[in-house]
Amino acid sequence: MTAAALRLGFMGFGESAELFATDLSRAGITAISAYSPSGAKARPGDAVYARAQNAGVTLVKTPAELARRADLIFALTQGKTALSAARKIVKSLKPHHLYVDGSTNSAAAMEKIAALIGDRAQFVDAAIMAPVAVARLKTPLVASGPQATAFRDALAPFGMDIKVVSDIPGAASAMKLIRSVFMKGLAALLFESMEAAHRRGMLDVCAEDISATFDAIPFRKILKRYICSTPAHAARRVHEMKESLDMLQSINSRDRMTRATAAFIKEFAGSGLDKQFPQEADSVRDVLDAWITVKK
Ligand SMILES: NC(=O)c1ccc[n+]([C@@H]2O[C@H](COP(=O)([O-])OP(=O)(O)OC[C@H]3O[C@@H](n4cnc5c(N)ncnc54)[C@H](OP(=O)(O)O)[C@@H]3O)[C@@H](O)[C@H]2O)c1
Repeated sequence: MTAAALRLGFMGFGESAELFATDLSRAGITAISAYSPSGAKARPGDAVYARAQNAGVTLVKTPAELARRADLIFALTQGKTALSAARKIVKSLKPHHLYVDGSTNSAAAMEKIAALIGDRAQFVDAAIMAPVAVARLKTPLVASGPQATAFRDALAPFGMDIKVVSDIPGAASAMKLIRSVFMKGLAALLFESMEAAHRRGMLDVCAEDISATFDAIPFRKILKRYICSTPAHAARRVHEMKESLDMLQSINSRDRMTRATAAFIKEFAGSGLDKQFPQEADSVRDVLDAWITVKK
């Protein structure tokens, strides 16, 4: 779609909508509108009015007006208000509309919004994978839903980084939350291990040791090795984790993550999967299939 043909609307005009709108209008899109409760009441001189002017955005008074002015509506509200925002606009949507919800939400919440939109318009679940202020228009987004490719094809030519991951609404949001399980968990684990290292006066040497291990191996191999080696070695690791936990407690260091690891290893050791995988397994998928099967 050409810049002149694309009529873009933002449902919500907060930090992310302002940054995307600014860069998209610099990329040549001229028809950009936005609705937000504060924007609807804004007058010249108000902060939101100036933000919209600088971003090349026309503020509108109602969600219905947004639907009249835009074909692609990108909803960027807080996660908890996404459903009520969709409720405000749904009656004004027509089959040509692409309603893209980029709020941070659960897969279930996105499924609810998709059901609310129903046949009235096309729905896309989009997840913003990093802070927008850092990479702005280049911020990675993942998208899912039957029309996710239409969203990508409309905005990628203007510089947006949109990866279609599934044709099922909810999948993109689930992917973001799965990423958070890992990223936030890793941060918590780094804190716990480095707190103990620092308490023992060994911060530099321990940080260097762990860093060297991770620097030496491509992460794809680490992921495979850690999952595939666990069935064969869980029993031996039970003792090691008990020792690790005792050590943390002896120096009064926080131990929440290590308690969880010890419980995980104990569960794994009792699962009998070492008999199915006596040596390092070949496939991550096989190990996970077996692990899911033994869940009580
Ligand atoms: N900003 C980021 O870097 C970033 C990164 C990843 C994910 N996200 C996700 O993207 C979404 C938007 O983030 P943000 O930082 O732009 O949020 P924000 O700055 O808090 O802006 C939220 C916007 O939603 C508007 N709003 C509230 N209720 C509404 C309704 N019923 N109908 C229409 N608009 C409504 C607000 O209007 P008022 O100002 O009038 O209240 C405001 O303009 C969030 O779900 C966030 O988790 C953001």
